[in-house]
Amino acid sequence: MFRIRTATAKDAQILARLHGEIFPEDAWTKDWFASRLKQKRMNFLVAEDEGRPVGLSALSIVADEAEILTIGLLSEQRGKGWGGRLLHDALRLPVSHFFLEVAADNQAAISMYKSAGFQEAGLRRAYYKAGTDAIVMVRSQPDP
Ligand SMILES: CC(C)(COP(=O)(O)OP(=O)(O)OC[C@H]1O[C@@H](n2cnc3c(N)ncnc32)[C@H](O)[C@@H]1OP(=O)(O)O)[C@@H](O)C(=O)NCCC(=O)NCCS
Repeated sequence: MFRIRTATAKDAQILARLHGEIFPEDAWTKDWFASRLKQKRMNFLVAEDEGRPVGLSALSIVADEAEILTIGLLSEQRGKGWGGRLLHDALRLPVSHFFLEVAADNQAAISMYKSAGFQEAGLRRAYYKAGTDAIVMVRSQPDP
């Protein structure tokens, strides 16, 4: 069974392993996760399949805005609707705006964000190490 849960202080190792497998060129350390898991302004979710961690999201909240710092599924678990579900749960945070940066060549992620109501709001040229541009995307909470 697939489920999504809020990460706890004990999940630093799990989150670091997931992030390293999903983003091998930009692995965030266990210490990075351990220190952020203690911060109220951070929100982490873990996606599990039959109890096995398969995906994560990390958001940083500042005032009435949240930035999606990362979201991803292990490669063999993609294309099953789980990334969309993880994003949907991450978007439950009670803020007015969400924003993120995504590599301009990451079609899967850009499509996922657009499906969830994000719009392109800017371009940061050569933002990533490889010289790839980043697209800034923004989503405002629909009116109640
Ligand atoms: C982006 C990512 C999280 C999507 O997860 P996923 O489980 O494969 O996506 P889903 O099956 O839930 O699909 C969600 C939406 O994404 C889009 N999508 C997913 N894979 C796609 C692909 N290969 N090509 C184009 N669009 C795709 C679709 O628009 C889909 O919307 P729909 O349900 O309306 O069709 C996943 O590809 C991933 O982990 N990628 C590596 C990490 C990454 O790039 N993270 C984003 C960093 S900004």
